[in-house]
Amino acid sequence: MTMAFKRLPMRESVIRQTTILSAQLGAVNLSQGFPDDDTFPELKEFAIRAIHGPNHQYTNPWGSPVLREAVARKLASFNKIQADPERNIVITCGATEGMIVAMESLIERGTEVITFAPMYENYVLQAIASGLDLKMMELWEPDFSFTREDLEKLYNPRTRAVLLCNPVNPTGKVFTRAELQTVIDFARAHDLLIFSDETYEYLIWPGHEHVSTASLPGGADITVTCTSMGKTYSVTGWRVGYLVAEESLTNELRKMHDFHTVTAPHPFQIALATAINELPQSFYDALRAEYWTRKKILCDALAATGISWYEPGGSYFLWCDYSELSDQDDTQFAERLLREAGVAGVAGSVFYPSTLKNPKRLRFTYSKSRATMEQAAVRLAKFAEARAAVR
Ligand SMILES: Cc1ncc(COP(=O)(O)O)c(C=O)c1O
Repeated sequence: MTMAFKRLPMRESVIRQTTILSAQLGAVNLSQGFPDDDTFPELKEFAIRAIHGPNHQYTNPWGSPVLREAVARKLASFNKIQADPERNIVITCGATEGMIVAMESLIERGTEVITFAPMYENYVLQAIASGLDLKMMELWEPDFSFTREDLEKLYNPRTRAVLLCNPVNPTGKVFTRAELQTVIDFARAHDLLIFSDETYEYLIWPGHEHVSTASLPGGADITVTCTSMGKTYSVTGWRVGYLVAEESLTNELRKMHDFHTVTAPHPFQIALATAINELPQSFYDALRAEYWTRKKILCDALAATGISWYEPGGSYFLWCDYSELSDQDDTQFAERLLREAGVAGVAGSVFYPSTLKNPKRLRFTYSKSRATMEQAAVRLAKFAEARAAVR
């Protein structure tokens, strides 16, 4: 074919490739962060009710009024963000659409966005598609923290925004109030926006608190909060999330969203409004307790292998250090573990700038069912035994 066409400098998702190899080898796949078990019976019931109702045509492109009102109440009580359903909320097709709409509609092409690595790999691709340069600050254990000076070093007159994920995919770090305030003060000093991806806001572990950037002093009018509803309610296939921002920002977000997708699936918006309105606190407590148990199964199994991990403050990811076991680069080690142990994780370099080759880290998810996690534990135990035998 001789035709000239545009080729974006994007690679295929490494996580998707790992998933394919994992299936070919019959491995337990702890690479992709979504549940592999069913959703909750309550959610199915809410969807059936919504399907029986008159919810099958386009709804208002900013989101069904029923869902926007429910989200506004949830934002006030859970996130401590005051949002008017008419002026500050856009329902999107998941956080994926939310983030790319925010980048495309609010930031001029050819300018820069600062973010922290390791970070969710989609941001790189979304920035490329939006014509933005991502400036990444590498953060490391023990606490993945940073200072105002670190941020200042990345600033230049082309900088337009700071992008953060909280809790962080892939490390599970939860930013403290002080760290978030540092970002806000830095952003205000240079007239920058903040994009705050709070997809894992309900998965917070003991000793940590989820603080929404927009709830802090000086945060409300410069922050675009982006959230997924798929993770909290185990319905990633329903494709519903939302953006929250000050009115003039929301007007721009709405234009871009309307022309991208018109609306997120209407019946699922209604079902999720019911979820927000009707599910008791015990639902969210049980969700956290279940993931905590799955995390323990994974950590206990990893401990025997010699792989260590960063103790996460939230999310359903475990950020692991295998440097005690091997000098292999992380792509080779991830593949070795897949072939020898039959357990798939993601090479840590996927979450860093392409210049960083071998952080000797892997990411596992514990979003999978109890049965899957137990199967992974059995395989990791065999791997640990085999290693002990050759030592
Ligand atoms: C940090 C983060 N943001 C956004 C998303 C995408 O969410 P959604 O399925 O709502 O598009 C994910 C999914 O893995 C994620 O980890």
